[in-house]
Amino acid sequence: MEQHQRAYNFNAGPAALPLEVLERAQSEFIDFRGHGMSIMEMSHRGAVYEQVHNEAKQLLKELFHIPDGYDVLFLQGGASTQFAMVPMNLLAAGKVGAYVHTGSWASKAIKEAELIGETRVIASTEADRFMRMPAPEEIVVPANAAYVHLTSNETIEGTQFAAYPDTGAVPLIADMSSDILCRPVDVSKFGMIYAGAQKNLGPSGVTVVIAKEELLANSPATIPTMLRYSTHYKNNSLYNTPSSFSIYMVNLVLQWLKDRGGLAQVERDNQAKAELLYGVIDSSGDFYRGCAARDSRSMMNVTFRLTDEELEKTFIKEAGEAGFVGLKGHRSVGGLRASIYNAVPYASCEALVQFMKQFQQKNG
Ligand SMILES: Cc1ncc(COP(=O)(O)O)c(C=O)c1O
Repeated sequence: MEQHQRAYNFNAGPAALPLEVLERAQSEFIDFRGHGMSIMEMSHRGAVYEQVHNEAKQLLKELFHIPDGYDVLFLQGGASTQFAMVPMNLLAAGKVGAYVHTGSWASKAIKEAELIGETRVIASTEADRFMRMPAPEEIVVPANAAYVHLTSNETIEGTQFAAYPDTGAVPLIADMSSDILCRPVDVSKFGMIYAGAQKNLGPSGVTVVIAKEELLANSPATIPTMLRYSTHYKNNSLYNTPSSFSIYMVNLVLQWLKDRGGLAQVERDNQAKAELLYGVIDSSGDFYRGCAARDSRSMMNVTFRLTDEELEKTFIKEAGEAGFVGLKGHRSVGGLRASIYNAVPYASCEALVQFMKQFQQKNG
């Protein structure tokens, strides 16, 4: 399939996957590496699948420079299940779950934690309509915190942490669903990082958890078996049937990222794409208006508005006719959003910028 037949895909998630990965999966779809069946048809207990599974873990450790003493889990239930698993496993009685409230996804994490234990919002940007991320010094860690939870990239608002707080001995837990592997991160600053795969890692159906082994090993026996980190940690994420096809796809995406030269290069490419889009917004003389505060702008989700909602509808309609997909903002906030995850090609961003300029010429 040639490149021009593929849509310009700016979906927020599930989102664009690398064409090379899709082609590789296609070539292996029916007969996986000479085994006479698809990877989907194999036992998760067999050596062939297990190699794919372990290689995916290894690749993630290598690419993200995950230090010794951490493990990687492949779970199901999406990042939304992690909103509950984090407090169920780690919020002991007498301790407080400390949350940084930065918008739509942080809010969901907080609501789940409130069902489970004592929860406190220790910093919030609600007064700024969540259009910025707090500076590290705004985040003050309570003495009795079990952990500090933050959302590294708010997918809906289009904001992203530029720098993470230092929480000392208290584990820092990050929902990185929409920006994992978009740049190098010092993983040793975190107790746990989790992410649904369907933006930067692969297809939906698997959630990656990266955590210090001490946080994974000691889950309370009072919570259901499948919701204990320790169950999955002790069984190499093979306690029950894993989402094998999704994990295989994650393996291919990680291999693709490695072949691109690793995360420093990926970050440069992402910055170049983001600069293109924010550039056309900023030079439009207020025709396009970026939603997020400049120092909190997301490299992954570019949110912007036009002066009136009717014009936004026209923009989405005409963009759709020109082959652009996924530019409508989330229904809860409206406006426009271009999600430019790792796999979105630079050429797609160039095409969008061209379209935006022409749209302004016609309507400005
Ligand atoms: C930052 C963030 N957290 C959590 C979620 C929820 O993920 P899931 O649908 O895998 O439960 C999303 C999904 O868009 C997200 O963007």
